[in-house]
Amino acid sequence: MSYQPAFWGVVPAAGVGKRMGADIPKQYLPVLGKPVLQHTLERLLSVDALSAVAVALGREDGFWPDLPFADNTRILLAEGGKERADSVLSALNRLAGLARSDDWVLVHDAARLCVTRSDVLKLIEQLQHDPVGGILALPSSDTLKGVAEGIIVDTVDRNHVWRALTPQMFRYGALKQALAEAAELGLKVTDEASAMELKGHTPRIVEGRPDNIKITRPEDLPLATFYLEQQCYA
Ligand code: C5P
Repeated sequence: MSYQPAFWGVVPAAGVGKRMGADIPKQYLPVLGKPVLQHTLERLLSVDALSAVAVALGREDGFWPDLPFADNTRILLAEGGKERADSVLSALNRLAGLARSDDWVLVHDAARLCVTRSDVLKLIEQLQHDPVGGILALPSSDTLKGVAEGIIVDTVDRNHVWRALTPQMFRYGALKQALAEAAELGLKVTDEASAMELKGHTPRIVEGRPDNIKITRPEDLPLATFYLEQQCYA
């Protein structure tokens, strides 16, 4: 029988969420009575194709034990790092010995709690036969400006610009190598695709839903509440 790659989730959840200005990390702020991270993980765990989800937590995280995942055998914990990419690499290392090099890893921000099962399945369906992988993304509906010191320096052709969302889906071995090399070279990568691009790979784009927002600022919380309520009726 030929080898069928498995699918694994990775959730970096070790940020402090400075831009929220809250006294607890943004992944633990309540939305509709549940912490953001609980929503996010419940949505990922609803995808049966994911064998397990490795979650990177901050070293000082005292909130995790209150989440209902203690007995969940599909959740694995890792210690997060200084930057998001360090946290992702740590979670990937937690999968060592479980994931095979050609298996798929879907990296998803803890702060994107409105991700839908249908978008995760769409990503898997469209990329599972691709050699490299790719990301959920959204075409830009605004005109985009290059700005320096408060002055517009150019207008970017928006037909060529997409906003990168998550999950981002790549092969386990290739992603680990790309992130490790970027770290060694001291290159700052804010998503997995950029680490893969630096290695010369060509990730694909899969159009995602606009309600897959990332909690970043206080005004994102009521927006996420609205989207989650709407999705109940979708
Ligand atoms: O800060 P930002 O919104 O870009 O963070 C995206 C995701 O990366 C969040 O889920 C956050 O918890 C995570 N992160 C992390 N380790 C860090 C910084 C951010 O896991 N050092």
